[in-house]
Amino acid sequence: MLIAGNWKMFKGPGETEAFFAAFEAPEGVEVVVCPPFPSLVAAVSSGRTIYAQNAHWEPRGAYTGEVSAEMLVELGVSGTLVGHSERRQLFGETDETVARRARAALGVGLGVIACVGETLEQRESGDTELVLKIQVEAIAFAVGDHERLVLAYEPVWAIGTGLTATPEQAGEAHAFIKELLDRPVLYGGSVKPENASELLAQPGVDGALVGGASLEPDSFAAICRAAASTS
Ligand code: PGA
Repeated sequence: MLIAGNWKMFKGPGETEAFFAAFEAPEGVEVVVCPPFPSLVAAVSSGRTIYAQNAHWEPRGAYTGEVSAEMLVELGVSGTLVGHSERRQLFGETDETVARRARAALGVGLGVIACVGETLEQRESGDTELVLKIQVEAIAFAVGDHERLVLAYEPVWAIGTGLTATPEQAGEAHAFIKELLDRPVLYGGSVKPENASELLAQPGVDGALVGGASLEPDSFAAICRAAASTS
């Protein structure tokens, strides 16, 4: 089981240090934290496994506002998220740029958590599988079933909304994704201490990508404990 905390644009270096001073992870679960770029150094010095939230596909160049995978390696970062729905929806990320980012990060030895998921409109119009197929195949075409690749199924309608996929919906989506690409699949979207055990118990759910509930050391630790007792 892998539990990854996506801090989004929360916690500068000071709050990052305070988090790690208070956070205790149980044995028997792999824990990853993804802070914003300016907090990566503070996070790495905690000794925990740290991922970035994005990485560019070129090692260097005239790409204002971007950070390369090489630079992350130099900081001691172990991997990166790519293709989060907030990147896709708010910052113009496409299946092609997600695939390029994943390939570059894996190419320099980073781990990658690549996010996929349908919007509410797509689910309601019966297009969930089509959307997942297009998103997963773009990643699969670029990097195949790379051993450092993990996928995250995050239904967009469940992110930060308090709505979660039912364990059954998650199970179905995970099974579908694994048929397309045989890699571990995390579930993400309003995972909390109260619902983690049930979601993580679903066949095909190999861990969780946690946003809001990863910001407090106690709630994130509770989700990690739920994973440790499920695996
Ligand atoms: P949430 O976010 O847990 O706050 O819904 C999940 C994510 O965006 O990765």
